Amino acid sequence: MNHTVDTIIIGAGASGLFCAFNLASFGKSVLVLDHANKAGKKILMSGGGRCNFINRQVEPRHFISQNPHFVKSALSKYGSDDFIDLVNRHGIAYHEREHGQLFCDDSAKDILDMLLKQCQDFGVGIHLHTVIDSIRATDDNGFALQTTHKKDGTATTYHCQHLVVATGGLSIPTLGASGFGYQVASQFGHSIVPTEAALVPFTFTDATGDLIKSQAGLSLDVTASNDKISFTLPLLFTHRGLSGPAMLQLSNYWHLGESITINLAPQTDIAALLLTAKKSHPKQLIRTALAGVLPKKLLTALENHLWQAHKETELANLKDDTLRQIATLLNAWTLKPSGTEGYRVAEVTRGGVDTRDVSGKTMESRLKPNLYFIGEVLDVTGWLGGYNFAWAWASGYACAESI
Ligand code: FDA
Repeated sequence: MNHTVDTIIIGAGASGLFCAFNLASFGKSVLVLDHANKAGKKILMSGGGRCNFINRQVEPRHFISQNPHFVKSALSKYGSDDFIDLVNRHGIAYHEREHGQLFCDDSAKDILDMLLKQCQDFGVGIHLHTVIDSIRATDDNGFALQTTHKKDGTATTYHCQHLVVATGGLSIPTLGASGFGYQVASQFGHSIVPTEAALVPFTFTDATGDLIKSQAGLSLDVTASNDKISFTLPLLFTHRGLSGPAMLQLSNYWHLGESITINLAPQTDIAALLLTAKKSHPKQLIRTALAGVLPKKLLTALENHLWQAHKETELANLKDDTLRQIATLLNAWTLKPSGTEGYRVAEVTRGGVDTRDVSGKTMESRLKPNLYFIGEVLDVTGWLGGYNFAWAWASGYACAESI
């Protein structure tokens, strides 16, 4: 079988579907190919099933890329207000949570249904179960894609003038993630910024790992930092390690072998508190003085781990310097993660197609005319909070507008 369309988009995820109907609304014939059995699987899983579809405030500083300027043009052309207008036009109920995050009231399915309806209304074809066996550049500056249908084995050759790669990152392979987009990029001479799991919980070994596991289920507000950035957000202890928004955000900026620092009581100067308590209640133990500051179970675990030798010593018998050192362990608990939980659970992939060879205005390859990259396949990673969808929409729009 043979098919010819103006534009083929590989990947029926957030950026692919969004780009597809915008492009079709500008009058182009568009076909979306995906190897999965369903479009937009990650959208359905997102935001705990409620899809944090955008953030009220989206700025270039919310993105990580080797070229931090790359996102600027696309974000300025299509911002949060534009997507919120679209959601309003479709009558989707939503609410705002802390830090400007917008979530569906009912279900992430509302967002996927909206994208699919837009695609249907503008006549976008979506072919699922489609494995792309090879891509060839044609003499007319277009592309020929050789495919096989997963279910019935039908071989089809698709021809297009413009090819958009919207295959996403590597996170959660069970949702259809693959490295195919990087493969296509490499085929046409693009380099790939090394990829790593991001927005992902940290894992720990040794005694620290045991301490963390013993607190599974506990959540508290902390300031988590490294030498690049700092986030004051909730931390969650789990059976596998440290999770929660503070850790996920920090993971975007973390590399294997680096330490992280956690201020377990960002509202309290623990050194000042202990030194004052030493004067006012000299017979107190450290854990008693800190009783109102940290949860009891955590304090017990920490004293066994961090100041066991002094745990039964009254404050009056501890040197000021010792108290200051213990305070530092709590206001700046320094840990070395053994790793992360990896792509199995990561929300995103850091790294990807190097943006130096892609136009930030049009998303077109600078190496191969009529080839485009949008969404997470690019070396653009957003913070937690609706920023990764913001990038999917903005890059998809910039691409659609330019074809
Ligand atoms: P996306 O992953 O959406 O789509 C890629 C598509 O390409 C998929 O349909 C896949 O099947 C297809 N594909 C891959 N390889 C292929 C191949 N070889 N052949 C054909 N098709 C292929 N972000 C956010 O802003 N707010 C949120 O609430 C969340 N929540 C969230 C939860 C979870 C559990 C995850 C895993 C991720 C999030 N994210 C998020 C991140 C967000 O989902 C992600 O950044 C976007 O979906 C990226 O959109 P893309 O279109 O680039 O890829």
